[in-house]
Amino acid sequence: MSNKVVIGAQWGDEGKAKITDLLAQDADLIIRYQGGCNAGHTVVAHGKTFKFHLIPSGILYKGKTCLIGNGTVILPEYFEQEIEGLKKENIDLSGLKVSPLATITMPWHTEVDGYSEDNAKKGKIGTTKKGIGPTYTDKMARIALKIQDLYSPEALNEKLDVILPLKNKQLKEVYGLKTYSKEEVLALCDKYAKLFEPYVCFDWQEMLQNFKRENKKILFEGAQGVMLDVDFGTYPFVTSSNPVGGGAATGSGYGPTVINEVIGVAKAYVTRVGEGPFVTELTDETGDRIREVGHEFGVTTGRPRRCGWFDAVTMKYACLVGGLTSIALTKIDVFDRFDEIKLCTAYKDTRDGKIYTSYPTDVYIHKYLEPVYESHKGWGVDITGIRKYEDLPLNARKYLERLEEVLATPISIVSVGPDREQTICK
Ligand code: GDP
Ligand code: IMO
Ligand code: MG
Repeated sequence: MSNKVVIGAQWGDEGKAKITDLLAQDADLIIRYQGGCNAGHTVVAHGKTFKFHLIPSGILYKGKTCLIGNGTVILPEYFEQEIEGLKKENIDLSGLKVSPLATITMPWHTEVDGYSEDNAKKGKIGTTKKGIGPTYTDKMARIALKIQDLYSPEALNEKLDVILPLKNKQLKEVYGLKTYSKEEVLALCDKYAKLFEPYVCFDWQEMLQNFKRENKKILFEGAQGVMLDVDFGTYPFVTSSNPVGGGAATGSGYGPTVINEVIGVAKAYVTRVGEGPFVTELTDETGDRIREVGHEFGVTTGRPRRCGWFDAVTMKYACLVGGLTSIALTKIDVFDRFDEIKLCTAYKDTRDGKIYTSYPTDVYIHKYLEPVYESHKGWGVDITGIRKYEDLPLNARKYLERLEEVLATPISIVSVGPDREQTICK
């Protein structure tokens, strides 16, 4: 196996965790490189369902190293819950490591996120309220705490003298929220220090060097998806990190040169949670049917996901900006009983008839766009037990081959069910 990055190629929830878990069998080191517990990653193995938020989806295998990388933001209370849940399931956590350079989500970050969402009159994003945007904002403003600060009384003391007066002024005057005393924050940091202590990887440089030198296999696990990327997604209706393949280079400790492949995970249709444009969205009974058959409800927030037909315009864009070398197509089994499957190959501007085959990045015009569809015939049989590409019904293969043609990118994996076993590797 070469070193692979698994990323979401749509708006998240494409089945990245299933693909990561599958590929983790052959990997030695699995790294989550961006995002935080806004992610909800589901793995089904041996008939059991596991839900991860921060912990890499490779943790179910014994003897693998799973690193929560520097590019992530960590909400300690959520991390604790996740750890406790896995301990109850007797999952071996001895390979779990946390980068000392990861950023901590403090209580004020979740409070500001919640406040902004609840009070937005215009421009509501529909965030997961896990403090993601405010934490990354402070990281970029250079006023965030990193995991390593928890173990350096000097750094913590000096940083809090800078951070707290600023934060408290903002919390009080801008948001009318509770302020924090230094004693209170130090007590909290003390608690966090104990929580993270067994996992912090202070020798991460040597560890990463060794994996590289020994030619061990590295798997990078992305969260969210290309269309939620802060640079390339439907800005401002995005998350605050870089889910594109390039994010693995800045969020892990390895540069881009160790990466051999980028696998973009995409569903056979599209879903989105939260606000923002979605040209192929179906608000009719077909959308409801996809949601019901595909069980499209959020792992992190339980929200019903918005559903629509496969959008090859955004996917072509994702192939480019995500840096995809191949696609893992999931949930094609959801269409087993559909007579017709539509595929959006272009957008039409309802104002002047202009046709877009490339993705228009100005999302404020998306409300004027309608999808141009081609129609594909369903296959009418259960494909969840199929394990070989040649055994798929002809119409399913035709649909997949048409996708490869339109996207000019090969499909390397076809997923026909949630279980680890329900996979076809081409
Ligand atoms: P992630 O965030 O990208 O890891 O995806 P989620 O876990 O949020 O959502 C994907 C959902 O689809 C989970 O419930 C998976 O168990 C499920 N799933 C993944 N692949 C398939 C598939 O090929 N078919 C079906 N029916 N379900 C799948
Ligand atoms: P996984 O890794 C789907 C969405 C939120 C919102 C926007 C910003 O499971 O695919 P945030 O809390 O990040 O500031 O919210 O991004 N979002 C996701 N949607 N899957 C996710 O993660 C998501 N993480 C964030 O719904 O629209
Ligand atoms: Mg998810």
